[in-house]
Amino acid sequence: MAAPRTIAIDGPAGAGKSTIGALVAERLGYLFLDTGAMYRAVALAARQRDVDPDDAEALGALAREVRIALGPPTVRDGRAYTVLLDGVDVTWQIRSADIDRIVSQVARVPAVRDAMVAQQQALAARGRVVMVGRDIGTVVLPDAQRKVFLTASAAERAKRRGDELAARGQVRPRQELLHEILRRDQLDSERAVSPLRPAEDAVVVQTDGLSVGQALDRVLHVIARPRA
Ligand code: CDP
Repeated sequence: MAAPRTIAIDGPAGAGKSTIGALVAERLGYLFLDTGAMYRAVALAARQRDVDPDDAEALGALAREVRIALGPPTVRDGRAYTVLLDGVDVTWQIRSADIDRIVSQVARVPAVRDAMVAQQQALAARGRVVMVGRDIGTVVLPDAQRKVFLTASAAERAKRRGDELAARGQVRPRQELLHEILRRDQLDSERAVSPLRPAEDAVVVQTDGLSVGQALDRVLHVIARPRA
């Protein structure tokens, strides 16, 4: 079987896409691109420049103007990759609670999506890539050779997000995280442009109760299997 050249992994907040996607890319020797980080970087730029997260026009202009670069880790502090916004390392800043709150508002703006999708497609054209997000299998890479939709119950995803934050020394109430995940799911699924949904030809992988290793095995299994 010829190796797939592009692998799309989509799914809701906290389903483990970034963790699993990075491991799949490492295992296969592919480039890893976490598209959520790009939308987060635009949201951070909006905060830094006092752009209203409801001002679609200003957000679109901002998304076209900023330079966002994702690359291998430049610091060994637990990061899976480094994110640069106009040359400045914002890898951890884009993970703040404030950005969690506004990122889906920013990501629903069509002009923001157009700018990001164009960059994502240009990167995928360069070579083998594992791309993770919400609309990779449906919009960004509809011809991806393998499509996985990674999911888990909202309660499980809130627990994982809590554990992830705790590992970074931040404590937030589980209820608050659950509420935020449900709100983001709703915004991401109900938006007019590129809503979160599995591509028709995606394989859904349910990860409730699975360890990272078990979820990784399932995803690798899907990837290794020739598509019908
Ligand atoms: O890490 P987590 O799953 O919480 O979120 P993320 O993947 O970093 O994505 C943050 C937000 O960006 C999502 O809630 C979406 O609103 C948006 N996003 C998107 O619209 N399209 C993508 N391809 C990736 C992210």
